[in-house]
Amino acid sequence: MRAVRLNELGGPEKLHVENVPDPQPGSGEISVRIKRAAFNRRDVFITQGLYPGIELPKTLGSDGCGEVAALGEGVTGPAPGTPVVINPQLGWSEDEAFASHGSILGMPRDGTFAELVTVPAINVHPKPAALDDDECAAIGLAGLTAYRAVFTRGQIRKEDVVLIPGVGSGVQTFVLLYAKHVGARTIVTSGSDAKLERAKRLGADVTINYKSSPEWHKEVRKASDGRGPSLVVDSTGGETLTRCLEVAALGARVVIYGGTSGDAKVRPFSIFWKHLDVLGTSMGSARDFRSMLELFESGLKPALDRVYPMDEVAAAAERMLQGEQFGKIVLAID
Ligand SMILES: NC(=O)c1ccc[n+]([C@@H]2O[C@H](COP(=O)([O-])OP(=O)(O)OC[C@H]3O[C@@H](n4cnc5c(N)ncnc54)[C@H](OP(=O)(O)O)[C@@H]3O)[C@@H](O)[C@H]2O)c1
Repeated sequence: MRAVRLNELGGPEKLHVENVPDPQPGSGEISVRIKRAAFNRRDVFITQGLYPGIELPKTLGSDGCGEVAALGEGVTGPAPGTPVVINPQLGWSEDEAFASHGSILGMPRDGTFAELVTVPAINVHPKPAALDDDECAAIGLAGLTAYRAVFTRGQIRKEDVVLIPGVGSGVQTFVLLYAKHVGARTIVTSGSDAKLERAKRLGADVTINYKSSPEWHKEVRKASDGRGPSLVVDSTGGETLTRCLEVAALGARVVIYGGTSGDAKVRPFSIFWKHLDVLGTSMGSARDFRSMLELFESGLKPALDRVYPMDEVAAAAERMLQGEQFGKIVLAID
């Protein structure tokens, strides 16, 4: 089969399409013939060596949809040919407890940037009929992370004012989608006016450019009637997170799932004085994934950036590295 391989570190240009032996499903596993895969920041971090536990050579990719190719021993379905989507969170059983949280498809296990991938049968779900292949590939890791951040951890309510910094991020576009779905008011930031325009079309109520408005947190406060947002979902870290904590409303929930721009200086006063709930989250449980799929059966559509052919995988990764994308970058495998 053809697969995107990373043989050495050095950034997106090190990704190459190669012929490798077809993987065979082991006991309890399913082999999926991938039609579309999608990029996450993690894939780019891995090419740069900025991820724990890297083992090379490897096929990257956490997100994928396609159809069942073959069933391993002891697996009774779904039947070969069934359209499916893959849950990239491996080893997180039905137990909701974080302690059972396992690994992510695409490192250390070979991932979805390939014509075939083998995964545990419990990670294979019927494809939501309302989504096409590109949309379906886009929802895996980012949609799941956002789902748990917004619903399971963030406990979003219609009455919330939600702050979404860096809305151009793959995950943050899902946060916006979900927040609008429940009818909450949303304030989004981005370093790009073009991305803010796209966010407006997805329903963002207030848009702020953090580059042209260096005091963006003051605008956030103004846009939330002086009270500040009641729910913040952040993956930027650094100075952005410091300001998020400062601007959050009394009793707000601040959910954190990443730290793209590094460590944050935290002022304890802004947390204890306002009784903030600061909540960490990462990926999601099997239950989160199933609940997310139900949501996408109801007509929600993920934001797509571009679809690249498999042979242009390095250009796709470079686009993400440069932060040019809005929404998900999809890789056409078939
Ligand atoms: N824990 C988990 O389960 C989990 C899951 C997925 C991702 N993550 C982490 O979450 C982060 C985002 O992942 P992703 O795949 O969504 O990445 P992505 O699509 O590459 O998005 C990164 C975004 O960060 C924003 N950004 C950069 N500097 C900023 C600043 N100073 N202020 C506000 N926003 C800023 C940019 O938004 P604009 O372009 O709009 O300015 C950029 O598009 C990464 O660190 C990733 O490792 C964690």
